[in-house]
Amino acid sequence: MRNLVYSWVVILAFLSCQTKSDFKIETVDFLKLEESYLEVATVADSLDVPWGMAFFESNIIFTEIRGKVKKLNLENGEISTLLSLDSVFHQRTPGLLDIAIQKNKKKEPYVFLNYTTKEGKKVTSNLVRYTLHTDTLLDPDNLLTVKGSTGHNGSRIYIDKDDMLYWATGDAQDNERPQDSTTLNGKILRLNIDGSIPEDNPIADSYVYAWGFRNMQGLTLDKSGKIFTSEHGDAIEDEVNLIKPLRNYGWPLVEGMVDTESEISKTKGLDIEEPIRSWTPVIAPAGLSYYDSGSIPEWKNSLLLVTLKSQSLRVLTLGENNTAITDEKVFFSNRYGRIRDVLTAPNGDVYISTSNNDWNPQPGFPLTSDDRILRIRKINSSPQEYIEEDVRSDTLALDGALLYKNFCSSCHKDNGMGVPGNFPPLKNSQRVKEPSRFIDVLLHGTDGKQPIDGVMYNEPMASFSFLKDEELSAIANYVNSKFGEGNRISPEEIKKNR
Ligand code: HEC
Repeated sequence: MRNLVYSWVVILAFLSCQTKSDFKIETVDFLKLEESYLEVATVADSLDVPWGMAFFESNIIFTEIRGKVKKLNLENGEISTLLSLDSVFHQRTPGLLDIAIQKNKKKEPYVFLNYTTKEGKKVTSNLVRYTLHTDTLLDPDNLLTVKGSTGHNGSRIYIDKDDMLYWATGDAQDNERPQDSTTLNGKILRLNIDGSIPEDNPIADSYVYAWGFRNMQGLTLDKSGKIFTSEHGDAIEDEVNLIKPLRNYGWPLVEGMVDTESEISKTKGLDIEEPIRSWTPVIAPAGLSYYDSGSIPEWKNSLLLVTLKSQSLRVLTLGENNTAITDEKVFFSNRYGRIRDVLTAPNGDVYISTSNNDWNPQPGFPLTSDDRILRIRKINSSPQEYIEEDVRSDTLALDGALLYKNFCSSCHKDNGMGVPGNFPPLKNSQRVKEPSRFIDVLLHGTDGKQPIDGVMYNEPMASFSFLKDEELSAIANYVNSKFGEGNRISPEEIKKNR
């Protein structure tokens, strides 16, 4: 018997050595900042939309959108499945979304998951607590359920060092809820670790901490406890917000700053909190992580934001008191595809996860190695070849192709074929062929209630009336020349129909 045990120990030791030496961390890029050189390397591949990541010991515990929770051992590269959830409702954007792990418990900490489920026609979004054992998650406890939908479920969860939980919920495609402080959608919610309402919440007996949100995709806290979120705008105005208790962030009355006549009149008497940064054209922001390590000095005290549509990592430098963004640098545009989440490890390494197997891959993706988790780490050598910060083009020339690419192709695609069941094709579209109806869609959007060529699209299209007459004319002429019958629409015709 002793021999048998001994030989098992030898075999196990051999096996684990093997995995260790087999664990190849493949360098994909070197990046040069002002002073530092960083290495970008693949630490895991062939994943299925790793949506949320959290750190535990020397592991990254991550979710996959179709319902798996996995553990990536960063010492030997092994990936094991901790939990397979059969009850997850996944379709396009809903599914198993974010994960957070209790920070101040070293052994068997709580793990918080957010996922959508569906019974009959009813979709709900659930915040469920588990306990982490070595190779599994046990003892599920459903802490809180809010209305879900086939889109706009958010969400992100964050647990701070004092065991306070924050949950950034989506509006569940219901425009009434974000402004109604008695519902839990389109809100920042604050909970105790057992799911109860904290006694010091700003509204007595309510989870609600702040409201007026559409579809938040990123949530992080800085070292003093300031809360930051990233959020998808409709067709314009993606945002990063600094969250304060009892504040109203405006959706759906306002997008971005309160700066149009209609926004000013709609919000009369309401005190709206504006974003600390907004983007038009949209970038589709996703995960957000506060970075305060000295290990990459150029990034110290910044928000790391990853994006889906613009497929980049953005470093948003925080100014004095962390109440404003003073600089923005963009990296990796279109190199790794859509990026879903970002995680700062205790040692200052940064991990990002790609999202190229999701419902909306961009041209050239997914790669056969997708989805990947990439590690970004400072190195002490200076490589011969490297990439640098991306050049930003915030102003668009009057170029129909470029405008189409920026404002339309994320949904209708470069080839004008759309996405079956989600976004209609523009190629051979009857509405594109009829100038007055095409202008109407551009200026006023659609209500999503009429079938197009026999197909119902469950989302309406937003209005693009914020674009100038000349820009809309350039887009319309491009669409007509590529996908229609070549009709011309002049800026004057657009103007007449405003
Ligand atoms: C966020 C995704 C999204 C973006 C961006 C977008 N659209 Fe759409 N578009 C849709 C959806 C969804 C519909 C179908 C809406 C409906 O059924 O009411 C649609 C419908 C249309 C239609 C009607 C098609 C038909 O055959 O009836 C046209 C034309 C159109 N879009 C043009 C554009 C143009 C031009 C742009 C860029 C300025 C654009 N769209 C940007 C989502 C989008």
